[in-house]
Amino acid sequence: MQTATTIFEPTNIGGLTLKNRIVMAPMTRNRASVAGVPSDLAATYYAQRASAGLIITEGTQPSPDGQGYPRTPGIHSAEQIEAWRKITDAVHAKGGRIFLQIMHTGRIAHRLNRTVYRPPVAPSAIQALGTIYTDSLGPQPHSLPRALATEEIPSVIEEYRRATINALAAGFDGVELHAANGYLPMQFLSSNSNQRTDRYGGSVQNRARFVIETLEAMIDGAGSASKIGLRVSPGNTFNDMHDANPVGTHLHLTEEVSPLGLAYLHIQQQPKDVHTGGVFDPVKLLRPIFDGPIIATGGFDRDSANRLLSNGGADLIGFAALFITNPDLVERFRSGAPLAPPDAATFYTPGPKGYTDYPVLGTEALVGALAAGGRWS
Ligand SMILES: Cc1cc2nc3c(=O)[nH]c(=O)nc-3n(C[C@H](O)[C@H](O)[C@H](O)COP(=O)(O)O)c2cc1C
Repeated sequence: MQTATTIFEPTNIGGLTLKNRIVMAPMTRNRASVAGVPSDLAATYYAQRASAGLIITEGTQPSPDGQGYPRTPGIHSAEQIEAWRKITDAVHAKGGRIFLQIMHTGRIAHRLNRTVYRPPVAPSAIQALGTIYTDSLGPQPHSLPRALATEEIPSVIEEYRRATINALAAGFDGVELHAANGYLPMQFLSSNSNQRTDRYGGSVQNRARFVIETLEAMIDGAGSASKIGLRVSPGNTFNDMHDANPVGTHLHLTEEVSPLGLAYLHIQQQPKDVHTGGVFDPVKLLRPIFDGPIIATGGFDRDSANRLLSNGGADLIGFAALFITNPDLVERFRSGAPLAPPDAATFYTPGPKGYTDYPVLGTEALVGALAAGGRWS
């Protein structure tokens, strides 16, 4: 890929033209129905942000067993596919591009958040430390997971293949495998959560096997690797991830997946990695290993994003929290307009507040004037 000098330059991933290099990073917003059907509000929310070169949706479960949090959407029922179709249509109508993120949460789950009354599955029966939010009881310890039997693993991988087929049927431009932030694929990668003794545990080759086989199944489902992206977060300890050697694990994984011809590798860095001298910078680590477009996400503003692109450190930059409060983030970056700060209080609450009610530039003054009792004319 050619080195870009700014985030506003068009680019291409997997044969798909993107109007700029600004990616709306995946964000769980917990506004779907209990049955995991995305709401009509979600179509408004994503269409409002369609000026991004690429939108990657919130994490979406490939099956009822993949759900860990309340009110997250799925991509396994006809009703869900139909609802997602409205969203992809709305984004495409505004000239946007949209990938679905597939998120199986594995042991990061509570049974109160799920529609199936059985323990979550994981590589090993090791409960994650920490708590998870539930609507009825607030934060609760994670449920104790059940270890997947070796012969069950193909059926979990099949869920990802099926979800990929469903996503493309719903009109998505592609699908991202969420192998970051402590969910099922990263639980296989990390030595603390994976203590298996079969071909999916132990050596780095074995711990990476689940992610590689899942990608292969997704590629098979899509009929092309160019529609599949991979997200990783090497060294991220969120959700009780403590791999003994995150550098070695992710170097091996990246070497293995690089020849597949994926649409991109999406690397989430922790702001501390780059800004306060964390142990290593995952983007710098994997950039030379992966032969294809790199999306870097985590703690960027316009200037730091442009700096990384112009020195060749990445090809696209993801922005998450800023996209919530600034639906027209691209325009604000372009014009240098002030940015509205994120408001964590409404990240995960149901309804339009903090979701679809953020104004775009130019309407703010108007909204302010109306709130102050002003009139349209
Ligand atoms: C409200 C919220 C929800 C998120 N949900 C997801 C998710 O579903 N999948 C995922 O891979 N990352 C998720 N993330 C992480 C973001 O994609 C991103 O990597 C992180 O926020 C750092 O980027 P930022 O500094 O631009 O916000 C979420 C972040 C936020 C703020």
